[in-house]
Amino acid sequence: MKKITIIGNGNMAKAIISGIVGHLEIEVIGRDISKLEKLQNEFNGKININLINDNFSIDGKNILLAVKPQNLNSVSKSFHGRARRLFSVLAGISIDKLKDYISADGYIRAMPNLSAIYGQSMTALFGDEVATGEAIFLFGRIGNIIELQNESDIDIATAIAGSGPAYLSLVAEALTDGGVKSGLKRADSEKLVEGLFAGFGKLLTNHSTFEIKNMVMSPAGTTAYGYSRLESGAVRSSFIETIDIAVKRAKELGNLSK
Ligand SMILES: NC(=O)c1ccc[n+]([C@@H]2O[C@H](COP(=O)([O-])OP(=O)(O)OC[C@H]3O[C@@H](n4cnc5c(N)ncnc54)[C@H](OP(=O)(O)O)[C@@H]3O)[C@@H](O)[C@H]2O)c1
Repeated sequence: MKKITIIGNGNMAKAIISGIVGHLEIEVIGRDISKLEKLQNEFNGKININLINDNFSIDGKNILLAVKPQNLNSVSKSFHGRARRLFSVLAGISIDKLKDYISADGYIRAMPNLSAIYGQSMTALFGDEVATGEAIFLFGRIGNIIELQNESDIDIATAIAGSGPAYLSLVAEALTDGGVKSGLKRADSEKLVEGLFAGFGKLLTNHSTFEIKNMVMSPAGTTAYGYSRLESGAVRSSFIETIDIAVKRAKELGNLSK
C-alpha cells in the first residue's frame, strides 16, 4: 500500500496523518476548502487535498473513513466505484453496515484514540484477513495495536480506549483541583499531575494494578485514607457503569447512521 485517501479532515484524520505523513502518499477529502488548506499548511504541503463532489470515485483506492458516524450516509452517497480497502474509525458502525454503504475488497474497523497525535494511540483492530497486514502497518505508525477476535469487542474498546482520554482528563482535572483546594498554585498542581500520568504509563505496563496499589499503600497511611474515600464515593462502580453506558451508546450510534 503506497497511497491512502482519507475522508474527513477532523481530529482523528489529523492524528493519523501525523503518524503516516512521509510514509504514504496522502490525499485528504473534505467539504470545506479553507479547512483543507489549513490542514495542508500544517503538514507543510506534504498532503494532497480535494473537495468531495457528487461523483467521487473510490475505485481501487485505499480509503480511510474518518467522519462522524452520523455523516456516513451523506458521505457515501457521493462515492462511486469499489475501493481496494476500507479502513473505518467510525464508532459503532459494523462491517456489515459499512458494506451497505461502501463497496470494497477488504474491510477493517479500527478504534484509535487521541494519543495518536503523539504516536501513542492504543488502537483496536478487527476485520478481513486480507487487509489486516496493511491495517497493522497503518495504525502501527500511530501507536500500539490490539487485534480483537470478535467484532462486538470493538464497541468495548471504543468505550475504554477511544473515549478514555476524556475520562482520564476528568481524573487529572479533579486531582489538580484537589491540589489547588489544599493550597497549591494551579501551575504547580498541574505539573505534578502531568508527571504522575507520564510515569504511571510505565508502571502500568510493568506491574499489575494490585501490585501498584500495594507498593504505594502502607497501613494507616495517606494513600489508604484517600483510597477509602474514592471507594465510598463509588468511583470504581462509576467507571464500570461508564464503560457499560458508552458501549451501549456506541451500538446506538451504529443504528443512528441508518
Ligand atoms: N476523536 C477521537 O478521539 C476519536 C477516537 C476514536 C475514533 N474516533 C472516530 O473518528 C471519527 C471522526 O472523529 P473526529 O473526532 O475526527 O471528528 P471531527 O473532528 O468532527 O471530524 C469529522 C470530519 O468529517 C468531516 N465531514 C463530515 N461530513 C462530511 C462530508 N459529507 N464530506 C466530507 N467530510 C465530511 C468534517 O468536516 P468539517 O470539518 O467541514 O465539518 C470533519 O472534518 C468518528 O467517527 C469517531 O467515532 C474519534
